[in-house]
Amino acid sequence: MSANLYRSIGDLKGFSLKNCPPMAEPSGVLMCPPDHFQVLAVKNPYMARHVGDVNIDKAKKQWEDLKAAFEGAGCPVSVIPATPGLEDMVFAANSSLAGTRPDGEKVALISSMRHSSRRKETEAFEAWYEAHGYRVARTKPGGHETFEGSGDAVWHPGKRLIWGGHGFRTDPGMFEQVADTFKTPVIQLKLVNERFYHLDTCFCPLTPETVLIYPAAFDAASLELILKIFPIVVTSSEADAVSRLACNAAVWRSKTAIIQKGANAAAGHMRAMGLEVVEVDTSEFVKSGGSVYCMKQYLFG
Ligand code: ARG
Repeated sequence: MSANLYRSIGDLKGFSLKNCPPMAEPSGVLMCPPDHFQVLAVKNPYMARHVGDVNIDKAKKQWEDLKAAFEGAGCPVSVIPATPGLEDMVFAANSSLAGTRPDGEKVALISSMRHSSRRKETEAFEAWYEAHGYRVARTKPGGHETFEGSGDAVWHPGKRLIWGGHGFRTDPGMFEQVADTFKTPVIQLKLVNERFYHLDTCFCPLTPETVLIYPAAFDAASLELILKIFPIVVTSSEADAVSRLACNAAVWRSKTAIIQKGANAAAGHMRAMGLEVVEVDTSEFVKSGGSVYCMKQYLFG
């Protein structure tokens, strides 16, 4: 196993946030409009009751409002056109993971999506990255192991560290490639609850020292790792985490949290941590199992 992978606190051997080098915060986000968004095949429990149930006009308005919320927080938004026939492409987090290496090189690691209906999304993202100064690195498409980008690989704010979730969409064997690609340590977390099928549904770093989690989404070894590394861990209620995907919030520069409206307990934690909270309505996208965090990809450099 690579020295850069941590799977239990026994692996840490002195590794802590203090000895983790700083890393530049993201420079903006990449979003994809919901032009072809629908709930078709059921890929996660949220979708089960909502096949054919998307109000596309409402979805388009919610997406525009979310884009405006990022811009209002001071976060530049780039837009990649939606490809016809790819109903989940609006969840721009999943088909890649963008980042930088310690030498500053910008890299995009292209995903190998678990569901065949999402595999073609990666083509448009690859082309976008190539046109925007990123080196494109590929996981093995069609291989046995799958990787779902920043849905399951979350950068620690301001630190050279990635949190990697596995259990439903991403195979743990992929994190060696993630660590090598970005020359960055990966702390692996095992997801055990199918409602929290991507790491970004149950794990939301608020600041370099603080994280919001839904504890029942993780196995015991993973919870120990989170508690060991983050000085402050706050938890989401089940209602906020499930009905409003509260942990799928996005925090810009440890200053502004953008979160599904009505997740009042989670928003309260954020305010208590000194964050400004902006509430948005992503209810059409929650029907598909996604909200704020996974409707964008962080960009760097
Ligand atoms: N319907 C999409 C899927 O099941 C939703 C993805 C949401 N993404 C996320 N990172 N939570 O693949």
